[in-house]
Amino acid sequence: MARILTGIQSSGRPHLGNILGAILPAIELSKNPQNESFFFIADLHSLTTLKDGAQRAEYVRAIAATWLAFGFDYKKNVFWRQSRVQEHTELAWYLNCFTPFPMLANATSFKEKSEKLADVNAGLFTYPVLQAADILLYDANIIPVGKDQKQHLEMTKDIASRFNQLAGQDILVLPEPQIDERIMTIPGIDGQKMSKSYHNYIDIFLPENELKKVTKKILSDSTALEEPKDPDNDITFKLYSLLANESEVAEMRTRYVNGGYGYGHAKQALFEYILEKFAEPRRIFNYYMENNAELEGILTEGEGKARSIAQHTIGKVRSVLGFNS
Ligand code: ADP
Ligand code: TRP
Repeated sequence: MARILTGIQSSGRPHLGNILGAILPAIELSKNPQNESFFFIADLHSLTTLKDGAQRAEYVRAIAATWLAFGFDYKKNVFWRQSRVQEHTELAWYLNCFTPFPMLANATSFKEKSEKLADVNAGLFTYPVLQAADILLYDANIIPVGKDQKQHLEMTKDIASRFNQLAGQDILVLPEPQIDERIMTIPGIDGQKMSKSYHNYIDIFLPENELKKVTKKILSDSTALEEPKDPDNDITFKLYSLLANESEVAEMRTRYVNGGYGYGHAKQALFEYILEKFAEPRRIFNYYMENNAELEGILTEGEGKARSIAQHTIGKVRSVLGFNS
């Protein structure tokens, strides 16, 4: 039995990149009866960049509703909000005292964020330590994440080893990253990596008319309608091919190459495809967004399961550190 654990920050509504790159692959792993999955909403991490509480609460709901919309089995697994299990912050403090300063100072994600953001706060600096606490509290074995998270997981292992060394025994379980090299970076409507921070994302849960507006904005060149087009250099085609099946993709490729098919037609086809393919997740998402109490109930139930495991680990850690004597 392997324990799978992953978290998504509540710093925005989930977009097509998050869904294809993180949520769907994690749900696939969770379907293996050999696995036990721990999926949580990293709302404490989102505080490093997002200060507005009402907005955070809205994003937490949207992320939770997305996991449910894509069929995550919260009854069999553990599904909760990080901030509601205080052991995350408690363990993070202990681990801070086992984390060498240069390890954090040299972290790629910190360097990148501190160049980009106006507010470079201490939370941003110790972000990887809180992430280590998230993982180590639950004895998680497998952490499915994108390539950008690889260094954070190496730091988690390093911090856990330092703690175990002091303890003289393996109190904390060293996790393994699971980086699926097949998962490509989903492009945004401007062709860069789709990301909340670049405002180039497709929110598949938008009302129809707004979703249509976003797909119309996908960048394309100025090749005239009647001329042949290069599908391999077009963002709309790339996005379509990530969703459609082989024959549908081949059909669109032929249309591009033959000419007489405009980018507007392709964008309309992509828009309709999203509506059709995600009809059921859109329905479930809206259901949970409108039935807040039910969503709240699901998260609260998960919180209880998470807390009892977290408390067990914290108990062992406190004993090693002399806080229980
Ligand atoms: P964002 O860049 O929008 O802030 P996050 O950093 O919160 O996204 O990422 C959450 C998860 O979604 C991570 O596991 C990340 O690897 C995945 N992810 C985000 N954007 C993409 C993308 N464009 N393509 C593939 N996966 C992505
Ligand atoms: N840092 C991760 C991201 O930005 C989110 C995260 C927080 C996480 N805690 C985690 C991922 C623990 C995996 C395990 O995507």
